[in-house]
Amino acid sequence: MAEPSAGVRVKLWDGPVRIVHWLLVALIGFSWWASDDHLQWHQWSGYGVVGLVLFRIYWGFAGGGAARFASFVRGPITTLRYLTTLGGRAPSLTPGHNPLGAISILAILVNVLVLVGTGLFAVDVDAFEGGPLSDRVSFELGRKLADIHETSFTVLQALIVLHVVAVLFYLVWKRTNLIGPMITGRRTLPSDPGLKPASWVLFLIGAVLAAAAAWYISKGLRL
Ligand code: HEM
Ligand code: HEM
Repeated sequence: MAEPSAGVRVKLWDGPVRIVHWLLVALIGFSWWASDDHLQWHQWSGYGVVGLVLFRIYWGFAGGGAARFASFVRGPITTLRYLTTLGGRAPSLTPGHNPLGAISILAILVNVLVLVGTGLFAVDVDAFEGGPLSDRVSFELGRKLADIHETSFTVLQALIVLHVVAVLFYLVWKRTNLIGPMITGRRTLPSDPGLKPASWVLFLIGAVLAAAAAWYISKGLRL
């Protein structure tokens, strides 16, 4: 196995990162399933996605070491240099997202924002069902945003396929299991990268703010 056999067991992903990840997977899947005949459930699950994605953006500034955007968003030179190592079979030992993974993750997060953002204003063909902000725009604009909503979901599906293929590529080609750490939070690395642990107080503040924002949005920004 290419994972370092001798090394330090490091806490890589804090609880909030892992919970947000697997809840996003579950709720996006559920919203998709419910988009045909259960539009009310579709929207409720969508508000869950709104809360999760808002929390993840906050956590990118307030979370533990590897969760912070500053720790994994890299410039073009570093990303290009990383690209040249991709064909090699040496295991990937980045203590967090590698520079390429970072791009895919940012693309997924931005896409989910567009998806839920347009869903809030979307209205169906007979104006019978609509997002909680659909009364703030004209019917024509609501329909256009419904189209963008559907298109952005198609783009998201492609990004998710790419994401899973990349994770499997690391597993098979680079013999690096990235899935285990996204479940347990822990990974063996050659040395301790000294990641800063997450703060419970900052977690609670972010969770309450994100839940409150999602609730307020679900009410059409009315109290
Ligand atoms: C709806 C489907 C999915 C979405 C929207 C999604 C989204 C994301 C996001 C946003 C991250 C970044 C985590 C963070 O820093 O907060 C991530 C990482 C990750 N995801 Fe997913 N994911 C999906 C499905 C999956 C599936 C099915 C798997 C398992 C095969 C998976 C495995 C991983 C792994 C291993 C990482 C960490 C990658 C690394 O070490 O850099 N994801 N995903
Ligand atoms: C992860 C989140 C979401 C996913 C994956 C998603 C996906 C989809 C898909 C695939 C459709 C097309 C259904 C069809 O015509 O067969 C749809 C329609 C719709 N979605 Fe979402 N959506 C999400 C979140 C939201 C949110 C947050 C809202 C607003 C509260 C929303 C409101 C709507 C509305 C009103 C429609 C009907 C538009 C029409 O009939 O053309 N969606 N969504």
